Amino acid sequence: MNKADPKKFRVKSFGCQMNVYDGERMNEMLVDQGMTRADEGEDADLVVLNTCHIREKAAEKVYSDIGRLRKKDGSTPMIAVAGCVAQAEGKEISRRAPTVDIVVGPQAYHRLPELIARAKTGRKALDTDMPANSKFDVLPVRQKQARPNAFLTVQEGCDKFCTYCVVPYTRGAEISRPWADLIDEAKALVDGGAKEITLLGQNVNAWRGADQSGKDRGLDGLIRALDRISGLERIRYTTSHPNDMTQELIEAHGDVAKLMPYLHLPVQSGSNAILKAMNRSHTTESYLKILQRVRHVRPDIAISGDFIVGFPGESDRDFEDTLEVVRQANYSQAYSFKYSPRPGTPAATMEDQIAPEIMNERLQRLQALLNEQQHAFNRQAVGRTTQALLERKGKLDGQLVGKTPWLQSVHIIAPDLAIGDMVDVDIESAGPNSLAGRLNERIAA
Ligand code: 5AD
Ligand code: SF4
Repeated sequence: MNKADPKKFRVKSFGCQMNVYDGERMNEMLVDQGMTRADEGEDADLVVLNTCHIREKAAEKVYSDIGRLRKKDGSTPMIAVAGCVAQAEGKEISRRAPTVDIVVGPQAYHRLPELIARAKTGRKALDTDMPANSKFDVLPVRQKQARPNAFLTVQEGCDKFCTYCVVPYTRGAEISRPWADLIDEAKALVDGGAKEITLLGQNVNAWRGADQSGKDRGLDGLIRALDRISGLERIRYTTSHPNDMTQELIEAHGDVAKLMPYLHLPVQSGSNAILKAMNRSHTTESYLKILQRVRHVRPDIAISGDFIVGFPGESDRDFEDTLEVVRQANYSQAYSFKYSPRPGTPAATMEDQIAPEIMNERLQRLQALLNEQQHAFNRQAVGRTTQALLERKGKLDGQLVGKTPWLQSVHIIAPDLAIGDMVDVDIESAGPNSLAGRLNERIAA
């Protein structure tokens, strides 16, 4: 096939789970257009790079990926750059990477078919609009899922404007998708085989909407409605902002059976001065208080978070405060990053940017502490029987990998089981990143 008439395509998503969701929707839309997904190792006539702009490395990776895209006969496939790098760098991409045919932002990818038609005629196609009519209204209905764990974007964009973050610029203002659309999409996912749904949003807990009787509801209301869908067994949500952690949502953790005992609640720093400079609008004290309240209703809840080290002006003392918050919060797992100046954000031009060596050293110390906590959390599972939803094949013969309610990966050898099975596992050992065990035959029988 030549570049002018793409038949096989591949979508590669980078970055956050919202990109994974967008990538799935693009896949479904291109199949709906009559194209087929290229198999692993097979040439694609159209490659969509669904990019992430949150940190430097993510964006640089896109350019090196573009340079490497070649078919086996040496020709270049049709290349579309989608996602947040497309939104942020638009024209710059076409200039830096002339082989790119299409540039499409995260709010415009429902227009991919038109953009492909344009690119077929040899013209460059660029669409980084944030149209008022939502892409969700025109995307095809959800198809059968390959995995039992599905993503569902319920909210997009961010109005918080943390001073380091590009999201408010690349994803736009906060919007909540309507109640009925979400219930319908969740049911379609469950009909397609999903047993677990993770509700997604940059500020997922800021979701608000009117329910079927017109009553204004928050994320807790939506979770309670999803809890009633039969066939759905697990509900998760990510990512949350501390300021939108309502009492109702906290209470849902205590009494909604399908809501999993896991909360990803980024704090970013343990220093109130840095939090202020970050425009986070919460303090370490208010953050820790929320964890206390959630643990009160759900004592076994696993807490996860995000951290940035080396934000401009971060002193040794500020960093020590971050370590102290980690000790108090006691995470089951967390993500930590070196601060990366993002063009156009207020922090990028702040004074007192931190030297790379200092950032490296702080990141190592923080990660050592977080890894220790994660390993300790995993060790607590040894000797217990835990439910696991099997999500994928493992590397070994007959091995399957599932997730516990606390989002730990668990490996079992079980040739008779299949992806999508919900099983009880006796946990035998715990590493820093995963658990291993055997099927509990007594309960399974
Ligand atoms: N530099 C480093 N980390 C960042 N994050 C967001 N913006 C930046 C940045 N400029 C991190 C935050 C956020 C996560 C998704 O990425 O911790 O919660
Ligand atoms: Fe970025 Fe802050 Fe919004 Fe999260 S809350 S997406 S870190 S601006």
